[in-house]
Amino acid sequence: MKTLKIAIQKSGRLNEKSVELLKNCGLNFENYKSSLISPVSNFPLEILFLRDDDIPEYVQDGIADLGIVGENVIQETEVEVNYLQRLGFGKCALKIAITNSSDITDLQHLNGKSIATTYPAILGKFLKENKIQSEIRNISGSVEIAPGLGLADAICDLVSTGGTLKSNGLKPFADVMSSEAVLIGRNGDEDNVLIQELIQRIQSVLRAKE
Ligand code: PRP
Ligand code: ZN
Ligand code: MG
Repeated sequence: MKTLKIAIQKSGRLNEKSVELLKNCGLNFENYKSSLISPVSNFPLEILFLRDDDIPEYVQDGIADLGIVGENVIQETEVEVNYLQRLGFGKCALKIAITNSSDITDLQHLNGKSIATTYPAILGKFLKENKIQSEIRNISGSVEIAPGLGLADAICDLVSTGGTLKSNGLKPFADVMSSEAVLIGRNGDEDNVLIQELIQRIQSVLRAKE
């Protein structure tokens, strides 16, 4: 039977918990920090360590059969993938945040203002739904410093502990979406017996945690 590939985050918020989950499923593999692919010795599976932002597309395109990634990344990439299982970790929220000294108190006040984000698609939809016209500044990272640099009036970014906002003099202002890690697969692959077996192992690990 064809060896499966599962893509997980190489480094960042979801990496450690993703590795832990797979190990708890009884999968035996080396968690190399330098390698991008790690074979599992006791299951026909290879683990791909990738940037989280690339995972939904890799699954959609068949480079990986499965992926563990935040819902926020899936929504932003706007790909067609199957949600196989919510994983209960990596909980966070995508929020609009403003500076502590900002006089913005109502969503409508964002009209005509600029918002820096790495989530232009999700933010664009949210603003449209709320009939707000802001300028979206699409940047590739470190959005939390944008207001301080005068690059934007607000930001839209993921908030987990809130530590990043706090240490940059920002405060959460509006909730855009909530997110957690999910297991995704390709549409039409649901009947693959190896995928079924992995889902069952993951579900029993999750049940044991309840
Ligand atoms: C998010 C976000 C902040 C941090 C917030 O990054 O961009 O940097 O987490 O977490 P906190 O509220 O606990 O301080 P993420 O881990 O998604 O990494 P990435 O944007 O580099 O993929
Ligand atoms: Zn990322
Ligand atoms: Mg970040």
